[in-house]
Amino acid sequence: MATDDELTPEGEAPYDDWADLYDKVYAYLDYDIGFYVQQAEATGGPILELGCGTGRVALALADAGFEVTGVDISPRMIAQAKAKAANLGLTSKTNFVVGDMADADVGAAGTFGLVCFPFRSFQSMLEVDDQREALENAAAQLREGGLLALDTFAPDMEQLGVRHDEAIPFHIRDVEQPDGGNIVVWGQNLWDGVSQVNSARLIIEELDATGLSVARHFRDFDLRYTFRYEMEHLLELSGFTLEAVYGDFEGGEVSEDSDDLVWIARKTAS
Ligand SMILES: C[S@@+](CC[C@H](N)C(=O)[O-])C[C@H]1O[C@@H](n2cnc3c(N)ncnc32)[C@H](O)[C@@H]1O
Repeated sequence: MATDDELTPEGEAPYDDWADLYDKVYAYLDYDIGFYVQQAEATGGPILELGCGTGRVALALADAGFEVTGVDISPRMIAQAKAKAANLGLTSKTNFVVGDMADADVGAAGTFGLVCFPFRSFQSMLEVDDQREALENAAAQLREGGLLALDTFAPDMEQLGVRHDEAIPFHIRDVEQPDGGNIVVWGQNLWDGVSQVNSARLIIEELDATGLSVARHFRDFDLRYTFRYEMEHLLELSGFTLEAVYGDFEGGEVSEDSDDLVWIARKTAS
């Protein structure tokens, strides 16, 4: 496993090139925090977040009083998370470590009350073997009776069918920035129905407070989509008993209109 000190040149580790942009692009994203805090409360912690990025969720959990370890494959994301923890006075509650969710062992296996993969980080696992390894590792890190919580996007039949090749960029959203500027996010997708991988590109345009375009960034990444019942089987095969699957973060039913599948599973008794 790579250590914290191995800062790689920009772009070398997957998602390194996101580190400076991530919090700006996802400045609007907080609708999942309450759900993850609830799961933390149900277990009492400590918490392991796999694919923690810049600490968006990990720091909210630490702020709610929990001990949190965050693992991410990108040294630059981890550096951001550590800097934010220091700014927020949360260093003593957090431990941010560079590692791969498929085999990360932070030296406390079998002690975590909750392992979580917020905002689709599990979908970075592009092969069945990797998915299994990440879930089996999550089970190994949990104590008996511990909880797993994650969210995945609900596959959209229209995107998989008529819109499977969205070569023309489509507008996703505008994200207001604290300095009065805006981030405008455009997307392109190529949905491969055989590998179940979406090769996505985000085109991220930074506008200053006067509306002038000051920078444009392209970020490419692959995510594997899983169907509801495929995911249920994966969880069961990997050492979990499903407790609930919701269609949103408020506990709503899964429906045709669900954007997210929100999962809670318990480590199966050995
Ligand atoms: C969409 S971001 C989610 C970040 C964070 N969980 C959140 O909710 O804001 C996905 C994160 O997963 C990380 N990631 C991708 N593959 C990984 C792997 N194999 N092991 C650990 N982290 C990984 C990326 O570096 C990225 O920070």
